[in-house]
Amino acid sequence: MQKAPHVTDYLTRHCADDEYGCLRGFEAQGGYRAAHTALREMTPQKILDEVRQAGLQGRGGAGFCAGLKWSFMPAPEQQPSYLVCNADESEPGSFKDRLLLERAPHQLLEGILLAARAIGAQKSFIYIRGEYAEAARVMQRAVDEAHAKGYLGDDVMGSGFSHDVVVVRGAGSYICGEETALLESLEGKRGHPRVKPPFPAQRGAFDRPSTVNNVETLCHVPHIIGRGAAWFRSTGTEKSPGTTLFGVSGHVVRPGLFELPLGTPLDEIIFEHAGGVADGRKVKGVIPGGLSMPILPAGELDVAMANEFLQEKGSALGTGGIIVMDDRTCMVRTACVISEFYRAESCGQCGPCREGTAWINDIVTRVERGTGTAEDLELLVDICDGMEGQTICAFADAAAWPVRALLKHFYADFERHVREGVCSFSGSFQL
Ligand SMILES: Cc1cc2nc3c(=O)[nH]c(=O)nc-3n(C[C@H](O)[C@H](O)[C@H](O)COP(=O)(O)O)c2cc1C
Repeated sequence: MQKAPHVTDYLTRHCADDEYGCLRGFEAQGGYRAAHTALREMTPQKILDEVRQAGLQGRGGAGFCAGLKWSFMPAPEQQPSYLVCNADESEPGSFKDRLLLERAPHQLLEGILLAARAIGAQKSFIYIRGEYAEAARVMQRAVDEAHAKGYLGDDVMGSGFSHDVVVVRGAGSYICGEETALLESLEGKRGHPRVKPPFPAQRGAFDRPSTVNNVETLCHVPHIIGRGAAWFRSTGTEKSPGTTLFGVSGHVVRPGLFELPLGTPLDEIIFEHAGGVADGRKVKGVIPGGLSMPILPAGELDVAMANEFLQEKGSALGTGGIIVMDDRTCMVRTACVISEFYRAESCGQCGPCREGTAWINDIVTRVERGTGTAEDLELLVDICDGMEGQTICAFADAAAWPVRALLKHFYADFERHVREGVCSFSGSFQL
């Protein structure tokens, strides 16, 4: 048997080609072949088992095993049930799903078809953040093309399986990326997270069993089904297989998206792929996985970018959005920017989140302006303690983690502000 080639850019290899966004161009690169074969020759259970054996971790932030999540769905007799694709991508520092939506829409549709078949869903919703107007336009065009070709609708590809995809646009709210807030918004309600249980697999969209998966997660599926779980596991680490799209922004020479195996060292991504720190400066700190992931100081960049290694350093992969800050950066200002975002985006449903995010922002703002005290710095830690794990969803945790990590690694910056009563990082970004 011929061994499948070891490819480390299977998600994005053809994304620079305009034709790839159209059905014909996608098919020319082997697109829809995995679905064509699987819908006819594989049972739903077999598709699910293959994805589970592949060890695909969700790429939306929490890293939950996709095959395991799918297995929570009830038997197909409990119809209707839904697949919901989370294309809200509002985490600052993350811009990977946008590329996949705009440049490879059929790859996502093929992933949706296979996932829907595995969980027995007849309808999928793609929930796209309001600001992604172009992505919504491209996805709708791809859905129309797939319908016209018999790749969606009744009796898909003559397989007996029927499936429809609905493209829905959000209105630009970060919390609507949290899966249960997304479901509320999808139903036309205010985007407030739901108390769990029941989990979406029990009661999801429109009170029906539902599975929510991130865009990138679903895009891996056709490659797993087409080439097999063992092939997928040949890239990445044992616990975190496959590639992912690392988005690098901040003070680097070449910001952008880099599809690389999970487990690629953070310093390799920054210094080789992203060209190193701009203006010949040094790194001060790096947020490794989107705004809510705890920052790492310059001395800890030799870490492999996979959850099992990042967690040892007190951080996590999140969405793979890497934000690099150089040695001119004031970390108190960084805390101001981050806490302002969470203050504005808290949905206000839970007291510890609503009050905590505002309180943190007030305190770091006065520390930045030079009127903060040493007691304020202790108070910040107490507020974080009162937020983490105390609310309906993980937003409050996501707001507390970055502040806690900034205090842990850059306490000297905060102390200096308190002591000197002024920001002395003259080269830092302005507020
Ligand atoms: C505040 C908050 C915002 C989130 N935003 C997103 C998002 O924009 N996109 C996304 O895929 N997941 C987001 N998530 C994670 C989702 O709740 C959910 O775990 C994910 O969509 C599941 O997909 P996956 O298993 O394929 O990763 C967010 C979670 C929280 C707590």
